[in-house]
Amino acid sequence: PLQGFLARADYESVLNSMGLTDGLIWPMPIMLDVTEEVAAGLATGERVALLHPEGMVLAVITVEDVWTPDKAEEAQKVFGTTNEDHPGVFSLMRQTNPVYIGGKLEGVEMPAHHSYTGMRLTPAQLRSRFAELNVSSVVAFQTRNPMHRAHVELTKRGAASTGSHLLIHPVVGITRPGDVDYYLRVRCYQAALRQYEPGSATLALLPLAMRMGGPREAVWHAIIRKNYGANSFIVGRDHAGPGSDSSGKPFYGPYDAQELLAKHDEELGVKMAAFEELVYDADEGAYFPVSEVPEQHSKMSLSGTDLRDRLATGADIPEWFSYPEVISELRKSYPPRAQQGITVFFTGLPSSGKSTIANVLMSRLMEIGTRPVTLLDGDLVRKHLSSELGFSKEHRDLNIQRIGYVASEITKNHGVAICAPIAPYQDVRRVVREMIAPQGGFIEVHVATPLEICEQRDRKGLYAKARAGIIKGFTGIDDPYEVPENPELRLDTTSFSADECADQVMDYLRKEGYV
Ligand code: PPS
Repeated sequence: PLQGFLARADYESVLNSMGLTDGLIWPMPIMLDVTEEVAAGLATGERVALLHPEGMVLAVITVEDVWTPDKAEEAQKVFGTTNEDHPGVFSLMRQTNPVYIGGKLEGVEMPAHHSYTGMRLTPAQLRSRFAELNVSSVVAFQTRNPMHRAHVELTKRGAASTGSHLLIHPVVGITRPGDVDYYLRVRCYQAALRQYEPGSATLALLPLAMRMGGPREAVWHAIIRKNYGANSFIVGRDHAGPGSDSSGKPFYGPYDAQELLAKHDEELGVKMAAFEELVYDADEGAYFPVSEVPEQHSKMSLSGTDLRDRLATGADIPEWFSYPEVISELRKSYPPRAQQGITVFFTGLPSSGKSTIANVLMSRLMEIGTRPVTLLDGDLVRKHLSSELGFSKEHRDLNIQRIGYVASEITKNHGVAICAPIAPYQDVRRVVREMIAPQGGFIEVHVATPLEICEQRDRKGLYAKARAGIIKGFTGIDDPYEVPENPELRLDTTSFSADECADQVMDYLRKEGYV
C-alpha cells in the first residue's frame, strides 16, 4: 500500500499500532534517511530527484515531511529491544542517517542489476507469470539461506496443504551479516529446484533489505508476497529471527512470528501456512514436524553452526541433510579453514606492543609460506592510505574502515592480512569484523598492556607530549580506548615477550585449523 516513503504521521502510526493512518496494516517503517546537511537543503512540497550512485535518475520524491526521529524509541517499538546485538537495531542506530524524509515517489527507471536478470521479476511480472501458468493459488516461501532437504520438505508440505503452486522467493538484498552471499545461494536454489515436480514451483529473486525483525518482519514479508501474487505464505520456526544476544538470550520466541501473523492473516488476505520445525526421523528415513516423531525414533538435525564447522574442517556432511549438488556448491565457496584467507586484527593502546608482535607473527607465517602475508601496521597505513587523516573519532573510524576494507579484500583472495592499529572504538571494530568474517577467518587480538606500562615504554615519546598537553586527544590520556569485550585472544605483554605472544597467536591459528 505504500506510494513512497512514510510521512511522519504514518511513521508514528506504524510504530504505535502497526498500521498506516488510513487503518491498513503495515509493520515496518520505510523512510529515506539523510544527513543533516542534505535535510537542511530540503523544503516540503519540493520535488527531488533520487539518483543511483552512477547518476541515473531512479525516482522523484515530493517531500512531505522532514524530521529527526527518536531511533531508540523506533527500535523498541519495531524490534522490541534497543540491544545493538540485534542486527536491525545496530543498523538503525549506527548506520542509518539521523534525519528522515517522507513523501510520494514517482518511479523513473528501475535500478540496473547484472546478475540473474531473468529471475528478477517485478510484482506485475510475477503475477502475469502465474496467470500464464494458469495457477489460481500460490504459496510463497521466504529464505535468506541455502535450501537443504528440510526446506524442500517444508515447501512441498506448504504447497500440498494449501493446494498451491510454490513460489521460492529468496531475498537477494541485504540480509543478516555473515549470511551466504546470494550468488552462491542462487546456485543452490537452482539445484534444489530440480527436486520439485516440473511446473510445480517458480524461483524468483526479491530485492529486499531485511531487518531481521522477527514477528513484525513476518507480517511485512506476507504483505510483500501478496503483492507478488501469493495468497498464502509459509512461516516456519523463528521466521526472520536475528538469533540471540551476546548473553545467549533469543530476541524472539521460536513461534512469535506465527502468533502475530495468525492474529492478522484475515485482515492481510494472506493465509499463513504455519509449520513446526522439521527434523529427520532416521528410523523412517524422512522429515517430520518435531512433535510427530515418536519418542523412541532418532531425530536428526544440523544447525547452521554445525554446517559451517563441517565446511571449515572438511568433515562429512550427511546425505540426509542436503543434496550433493548443494553441498558441492557450498564446498567450492567455503573451503576448509587451511585454505581460507585470514585477518589477524591487533588492537591496543599506543606502545602496547602491537607492531612488534605483528612483525613477529608476519615472520612466522612467511616461514610457513602457504599464503601471501600483508602487514597493515598503524604507522604504515597512516603513511600510505590515511595520510590526510587526524585522530578525531570520525577520522579514526575512517582509518579503521579503510584498513578493514583492504583486509577484507586480502582475506577474500585467500591471503593473510595482519592489522595493527589502535582501533579504540568498539562499533567500528564490529563493522570491520562483519565485513571480513564472511570472507574467511577474523581473529581479533587485544594487546592488553596496561596504560602504565605503555606509558613507561613510550618509544616515540608521545605519552610525555600528551601529558604535557602538546598532543591533544591522545588515546589512553585524554581520548578513550574501549576495551574489546569478546576478542578471540587477549595477550598479556607484561608476562610474555613479543615472541611468546606471536606464538600464542600461532597456537590459536593451529588450534582453529587455519594453519
Ligand atoms: S587509530 O586510532 O587506530 O586510527 O590510530 P592509529 O592509526 O593506529 O595510530 C597510529 C599511531 O599514531 C600515533 N599518534 C596517536 N595515537 C593516538 N592518539 C593520538 N592523538 C595520536 N597522535 C599520533 C601513535 O604513535 C600511534 O602509534 P602506535 O603504534 O599505536 O603507538
